[in-house]
Amino acid sequence: MINQSELIQTLDTPAVVIDLDALDGNLRRTAERAARSGVKLRPHTKTHKSVWVAKKQLEYGACGITVAKLGEAEVMAAAGIDDILLAYPIVGKRKLERLGKLLGIARITVSTDNYEVAQGISELGVSLGKRIPLYVDVNTGLGRLGKEPGAPTADLVERIASLPGVEVTGLMTHSGHAYGKGSEEEILAVAIHEAQSLLTTKELLRQRGIDVREVSVGSTPTSKFALQLPPGVTEMRPGAYVYGDVSQLVTHTMEESQCAMRVFATVVGLPRPGTVVIDAGSKTLTTDVNGARKGYGLLPAHPDVIVERLSEEHGNLTVPEGTRFHIGDVVEIIPNHCCTVTNLHDRLIGVRDGRVERYIQVDGRGKIN
Ligand SMILES: Cc1ncc(COP(=O)(O)O)c(C=O)c1O
Repeated sequence: MINQSELIQTLDTPAVVIDLDALDGNLRRTAERAARSGVKLRPHTKTHKSVWVAKKQLEYGACGITVAKLGEAEVMAAAGIDDILLAYPIVGKRKLERLGKLLGIARITVSTDNYEVAQGISELGVSLGKRIPLYVDVNTGLGRLGKEPGAPTADLVERIASLPGVEVTGLMTHSGHAYGKGSEEEILAVAIHEAQSLLTTKELLRQRGIDVREVSVGSTPTSKFALQLPPGVTEMRPGAYVYGDVSQLVTHTMEESQCAMRVFATVVGLPRPGTVVIDAGSKTLTTDVNGARKGYGLLPAHPDVIVERLSEEHGNLTVPEGTRFHIGDVVEIIPNHCCTVTNLHDRLIGVRDGRVERYIQVDGRGKIN
């Protein structure tokens, strides 16, 4: 728990607080793990959307960053970050124009799982007189984007590689399905499977005379097993590791003390026995749920309290008999999903030793296109 005593006097709630020591520890631990395993770290910055945190990640040795959206890439590139993986398909004239501008100021790699999308990007590349680096997205179990590993992906890569304005520089996958696993053994199996799937596909492509340099895997749960990955994986892209959340706790990916993000909320109502109302609702905590744990967040000081219901500005806590709260009490909550909480706030409050040290501007807030 964050040392609250002095902090509570200075904070207006609801407030999203980042424990800067925990943040530093998370940045360092993951960077060291990547370095020891010989895998480049290309963190996904959708979690924090902050230039300051991204630059810290680079200082800790990240090779570049990942973003989800063009708008995020524009913010990061404008701040001087120049090696960016845009891990999202770029579709449509307007977006291609923006990508064209972006390519003038930063080294951008794009990604897709679709020939038609690649064609649009290739046309842009031809018009700019360059081959735009491109990762082909592969489905290794999440079932979102991506053709299956092996021949289906290899066939696609062959077609895309024949386009004049792109260069297929890598294969990528996101093992988001790791969040559905309850044990470390199962998550390790996901990590090995996503790596093997890409490596097998890369080998198949080599046999067909196509060399893809980068093998890019990643999620926060699987990044914990970087040292156990088969050789050949070149980069990993965890994102949520910077702040941590309930999703990391229930998958045993992070410990409570490593969860740097805490929402501070004030008790504003005690309407019925067993119900406590706080001033953090869905506009603070988001309505993201977690399959493995009831409610909308965890109170580390009261793990048996459930954040039962959220309306926009109110949070209803269900408290067990004997647990007493008073009007004005400040509670600390680890949210279910740190990335979506970030996107709801203009700035987060960085604290150390119970004092506000800095504000963390969410520079890419709301950059959803
Ligand atoms: C393409 C891609 N890479 C990496 C990540 C980071 O994973 P995590 O949220 O587990 O840190 C995500 C998360 O959604 C993603 O979509």
